[in-house]
Amino acid sequence: MGKYTIVIHGGAGDFPKDSPEELKQQYINSLTEALNIGKNILANGGTSIDAVEKVINYLENNILFNSGRGAVFTLEGKHELDASIMQGKDLSSGAVAGVTIIKNPISLARLVMEKTPHVLFAGKGADDLGIQLGVEIVPNSYFHDSTGYQKWLKSNIKQQGETVGCVALDQYGNITAGTSTGGRQNKMPGRVGDSPLINAGTYANNNTCGVSATGIGELFIRNTIAFNISALMEYKGYTLKQACDEMIYKRLPEGSGGV
Ligand code: GLY
Ligand code: GLY
Repeated sequence: MGKYTIVIHGGAGDFPKDSPEELKQQYINSLTEALNIGKNILANGGTSIDAVEKVINYLENNILFNSGRGAVFTLEGKHELDASIMQGKDLSSGAVAGVTIIKNPISLARLVMEKTPHVLFAGKGADDLGIQLGVEIVPNSYFHDSTGYQKWLKSNIKQQGETVGCVALDQYGNITAGTSTGGRQNKMPGRVGDSPLINAGTYANNNTCGVSATGIGELFIRNTIAFNISALMEYKGYTLKQACDEMIYKRLPEGSGGV
């Protein structure tokens, strides 16, 4: 009792060499704020599921990151968001893929887990479920970052890596992992990445670890990255570091992403 742990990421992308110091500082400040939100919940006896949801809500609402507001653009210049959450105590999990009007996809993923008998909702059915369950609804244009949009119009590129994720272990020994993203810049409409897929982009098991991935989703799906890290620990006795090194550095091509 009394011990807790929290880890966050804001994507595996790197800063372009010419990025202003001020922008880097904004990212660092935002990540620090996110971490503090989670730490406060856990230090006061809150649960890992609450910590993970609130941390990711903050990052979803922050335009710097590729999740919620500030999400990257599909080939059509729209936004389709993916998120998932999983609890290590009982493997319960919830996810949404390709939502377009849900302000905080991670919160709808949690409701899928808690309020439905299912794990994953996609597209219009997921948006409709959000309306039905009373989560905050926004127009698709809410997610636009106008600076990012101007860049997208001009060059069709924007930094790609800023998927967000959080893993927390609460004072009761329960691990929760969550991931939220706008996916990949210029993805084909309807494309779904690893982030809403339990076992690929997100996994949690109290016997082993919690994982949230970021990077080129297709590679994380094909290699079942998040589950395999846990499985190497559970079945082969690897340490967390050994398991991550095996999957990230040996199985994936260099530069695929991280966990
Ligand atoms: N295995 C088929 C289904 O769950 O829909
Ligand atoms: N890893 C985020 C994505 O590919 O959608």
